[in-house]
Amino acid sequence: MSGVKIAPSLLAADFSRLAEEIARVEEAADWLHLDVMDGHFVPNISFGLSVIENIRGVSDLFFDCHLMTTNPDFFLPELAKAGVDLVTMHIEAVPNPMGPSERARDAGLDFGLVLNPRTPFGGLAPFVELCDVVVVMSVEPGHGGQSFIESVLPKIEEAREWVENRGLTADIQVDGGITPDTAPLAVAAGATVLVAGTSVFRANDSADAIKDLRRAIEKR
Ligand code: DX5
Ligand code: ZN
Repeated sequence: MSGVKIAPSLLAADFSRLAEEIARVEEAADWLHLDVMDGHFVPNISFGLSVIENIRGVSDLFFDCHLMTTNPDFFLPELAKAGVDLVTMHIEAVPNPMGPSERARDAGLDFGLVLNPRTPFGGLAPFVELCDVVVVMSVEPGHGGQSFIESVLPKIEEAREWVENRGLTADIQVDGGITPDTAPLAVAAGATVLVAGTSVFRANDSADAIKDLRRAIEKR
């Protein structure tokens, strides 16, 4: 077992049948990734608090909430109340994440920071100690179904080295374009959590698709 966690992204699910879609991954997945978009930080709007609160009632998975919003620390107590376990926010939105991370902790949430594909690791590095998770985006945020950007691989390595050299425990999450072809690349570079939307929810059998990802990682 590699110990790598798989987090299906609900963004690629059929929103007219969310409970059934979640049931397809409930046993096979480790976390459920929830992409919250505000139409301002990214050019798309997805879903928010009431949807999260409703799906909390049909899943026992760890809820990993990726905030693609301009003011990601506005709704932290509400997110915790809705059933979120972990919030991740973009360093591009919170260049000084000390306050937001404290407010997340105060709300009882795990905390993580996210890097866009073109954002260097350097600006986030001083804040890794605040993080349970460091997220490297491997697509431009805003939409599912895009191709994995291979040029982020050195940044994944950099984040992993930073964490290991300091004896930290943060997970390294890689988000976007994860398939059985790209998952082994991300894991070889140091990923410990893989977010996969399209390759899981658009598959005929989502549990099988998760198993395919695990097999691809083991084989590497
Ligand atoms: C992109 C989101 C990703 C995305 C992943 O804005 O943050 O989580 O939904 O979906 P796929 O696997 O389709 O790239
Ligand atoms: Zn995401």
